[in-house]
Amino acid sequence: MPALGYGTYPITGDEGVAVFGRAIEDGYRMLDSAASYGNETEVGAAVRESSVPRSELFVTTKLRGESHGRDETLKAFEGSLTRLGLDYVDLYLIHWPLPRLDRYVDTWRAFVELREEGLVRSVGVSNFMPEHVDRLVDETGVVPAVNQVEMHPYFPQPAQRAYDAGRGIVTQAWSPLGRKSDLLGNETLDDVAYEVGVTPGQAVLRWHVQHGSVPLPKSEDPTRMAQNLDVFSFSLSEEQMGRLDGIATGERVGGHPLEHEEF
Ligand code: A2P
Repeated sequence: MPALGYGTYPITGDEGVAVFGRAIEDGYRMLDSAASYGNETEVGAAVRESSVPRSELFVTTKLRGESHGRDETLKAFEGSLTRLGLDYVDLYLIHWPLPRLDRYVDTWRAFVELREEGLVRSVGVSNFMPEHVDRLVDETGVVPAVNQVEMHPYFPQPAQRAYDAGRGIVTQAWSPLGRKSDLLGNETLDDVAYEVGVTPGQAVLRWHVQHGSVPLPKSEDPTRMAQNLDVFSFSLSEEQMGRLDGIATGERVGGHPLEHEEF
């Protein structure tokens, strides 16, 4: 799996096909989509139209809440694959655990079936807390390859990351730049970025990489799209990492896994 991916939410339509195509041309090799983003068609079109071979691209999509349950999952996946127009998906994630429904274990069994059929290369989860992953593993014996959660310097998820690492699960970060918060205007971040000679966005993405998480930044701006990819030619010192760890507020920009319902 690439060490950084392109976040496609909330880009749709003809503009989406063009932006995703540009992302691939820029050098992004992983595109993160979801049934609920309404842009699988656009992501698939960009992948199919690209001159980069399919085997070099990594396509992720996610199962929406209304499709939890074994049969529903198999049907929903068929829809995703048809919209994408691809033969397989690299990574399929359960978008949210929806504990009130309590169907994520049955959903997971269907995910494992899809992987065994070769339609999905790897299966994982998103927004799963340790208690949810523990249940999957206890009841099916299959550990998710990936857990995609909200993560950025204001909400750095140290306990979740330690848990994932202990299970051999890769943590991916959604809203890696803190989306609507004032993160990118934070003074400490600005100081660190200035010292290193990069933009605040690049410093944050490098912070993710050095923490071992895989960030999925979204940008529609050509300059920022290219900058966000360029985070492997410099590094932050331990002291600079520590200063960025120190700006955590514990505040989320998105939903809580125990409560968030998306259908
Ligand atoms: P834009 O598309 O105009 O670049 P997140 O990935 O955390 O959800 O954040 C995405 C938001 O951050 C978008 O509004 C995006 O706007 C903006 N953004 C993306 N990359 C950068 C960057 N390097 N510097 C500043 N803002 C950025």
